[in-house]
Amino acid sequence: MRSFTQRRRFLVASLLAAISTLLQFAIEANDADRPDILIADFESENYGDWTTTGDAFGPGPARGTLPGQMPVGGFLGERLVNSFHGGDASTGTLTSTQFTIERSQINFLIGGGAHPGQTCMNLIVDGQVVRTATGPNDRPGGSEQLDWQSWDVTPWIGQKASLQIVDQHTGGWGHINVDQIVQSDRKQGRETVRKDLHVRARYLHLPVRTGAPKRRMTIKHDGKTVHEFDIELALDKPDFWSFLDVGPFRGQSLQVETVLPAGQTLREALRFDDEVPNAWEIAHKFKRPQFHFTSRRGWLNDPNGLVWLDGEFHLFYQHNPYGWNWGNMHWGHAVSPDLLHWNELPIALYPRAYDDWCFSGSAVIDHKNTSGFQTGALPVMVAAFTSTGRGECIVYSNDRGRSWTEFEGNPVVRHKGRDPRLLWHEGSNRWIMAVYDEEDGQAIAFHSSPDLKSWTYESRIKGFYECPDLFALPVDGKPDESRWVLYAADGQYMIGAFDGHVFTPESNRKQPLWHGDFYAAQTFSNPPEGRRIQIGWGRDITFPDMPFNQQMTIPCELTLRSTRNGVRLFAEPVRETASIRARTHRWQAIELEPGKKPLEPVTGELLDLEGEFEIGQAHSVTWNVRGVPVVYNVEKQTIECRKHSAPLAPNDGRVALRILVDRGSVEIFGNKGEVALSVGARPAVTDRSLRFSAEGGTARILWLNVHVLDVNDQ
Ligand code: FRU
Repeated sequence: MRSFTQRRRFLVASLLAAISTLLQFAIEANDADRPDILIADFESENYGDWTTTGDAFGPGPARGTLPGQMPVGGFLGERLVNSFHGGDASTGTLTSTQFTIERSQINFLIGGGAHPGQTCMNLIVDGQVVRTATGPNDRPGGSEQLDWQSWDVTPWIGQKASLQIVDQHTGGWGHINVDQIVQSDRKQGRETVRKDLHVRARYLHLPVRTGAPKRRMTIKHDGKTVHEFDIELALDKPDFWSFLDVGPFRGQSLQVETVLPAGQTLREALRFDDEVPNAWEIAHKFKRPQFHFTSRRGWLNDPNGLVWLDGEFHLFYQHNPYGWNWGNMHWGHAVSPDLLHWNELPIALYPRAYDDWCFSGSAVIDHKNTSGFQTGALPVMVAAFTSTGRGECIVYSNDRGRSWTEFEGNPVVRHKGRDPRLLWHEGSNRWIMAVYDEEDGQAIAFHSSPDLKSWTYESRIKGFYECPDLFALPVDGKPDESRWVLYAADGQYMIGAFDGHVFTPESNRKQPLWHGDFYAAQTFSNPPEGRRIQIGWGRDITFPDMPFNQQMTIPCELTLRSTRNGVRLFAEPVRETASIRARTHRWQAIELEPGKKPLEPVTGELLDLEGEFEIGQAHSVTWNVRGVPVVYNVEKQTIECRKHSAPLAPNDGRVALRILVDRGSVEIFGNKGEVALSVGARPAVTDRSLRFSAEGGTARILWLNVHVLDVNDQ
């Protein structure tokens, strides 16, 4: 029961609220009296009295997304102006007839390219462009979401005007999307929203909805920008919560600034907590791969700075912490004792400024302290990365990669290129940087340095693209017979000699090692026992309803072996994979008749299969792993899985296979690592079947071991 005073307070409050609503209504009533004037909603099959030139705008408004385009959203109704007809390369204009400006605002939805004058909408009065607007995107990634913009057109009220939508840009984001152009007394535009936050906990939680309009978010401390990034901020239902580590500002205040549609606030959008959001779900959620690295949240691509030190394998990686797609490049960081169990640590490298992202690079241990960066007993870890705003930069860490300091002489190499790979070259007693360089075609350039600080250009070799790696390996394990391998992002390599100045290939033909969903691999610096261990990015391996996207491939040990075709690079999963085998089922001599033969039920979700079969009379032999067929095509001599295939010749009529199955992928190694294939696949949780079959004739499995894996029990 309420007391009398409470009731009185309640009545007074209700009365005040009613008065304030009435007042507000009265204030708004003037504006509300005048309805908006629709200029165009583009809901017809054709453009009506608007005229086109060129072919970019097609015959009429598009029904949303056009072929080859990322999903377009945020428009009203069923159609919009979309100049992606014929892709980004097409150009054209779309012009309205004249209309009279009768309201103070023109509001419209716009998306696509951010190329002023080239992908834009112009307001033309007396033959002059008096207002112009573009979409939000000027770099790969981005979003096809339309968002409101608004022009104040008060100066031209009563005058005649026309609108011209322009697509004259032919490169990336060479298109423009427009919808719902309205004259109004009210702004439907965007406003800068600022919020002061007292930092009460370590993490600021940020809601993300993939496909929501990208907002530029700026975090300031004492007026100075400390973080600036793009985020598809979910003002309504988030897909997931991302987080920013604000630990360094605990107890102080931060200012958050972003631009939102008029009337929207950040009220519900930001939360503090000492835990990362959904920590339990992130660790245990159903579909997270179990022995492949995925980031707790957000996007990952290339492995960076792979280095071993003091019992820890370090995996740094290209990372967008605030979104499910590529963007905002940071260096994420994880460590592992065994390459299979990873512990994600705080982000290692943050962009210094919005336009200065941290692209790929590598790390080494400067055992001799040639750089002079070492401060303690532990040797210093030195990394090189591409700062998109500056060039190749050097950073160092004296606490095992936990904190990093910028070399004050950055950038150390300035050129058109990226992805520096550092290594120590014993022969010339110098550091080498192998780096992708496009000053003169696509090439890998070599620079040398005595101290990791001052670099001298040595030479270049053309015909390679992105993310180089360079290392020496013994052939067939013989230390006196070693060769250099120059390797690039596409998983192809050349064998040759490297004298610290020039790479001399033995043959100009590049050899493929990796196939499928695989890209931008790198090998560990300072590896234990001199092992050459490689991790790649499982490119396009996605997890649609998870807070994370993309995975790293299984770490592999690389070796050089003599084959009938010459010396070749082989990749096999690291021996540590044996340590997660929980149970093994063994079979021998299984005759495969055309038709399927299931094996006894194997109750494992995570699998490591190894075995060998004799082709016999079969046209193809299929190992169907939890519903994902891995097919050996006898005639083509290829191993095939989903949309991918790789060449694999039999040895004396026999083919050996090793297949690793995790929640996001199937990885296949043919003939003991002669060929490697990474395939994104999400086998149904309920399908635990293994089926082996021969088509067109009989074949024979000589031996087969099915290891059921358990990552948590070890
Ligand atoms: C390769 C790559 C690199 C670049 C990085 C950016 O996947 O394009 O060349 O440094 O990704 O994320």
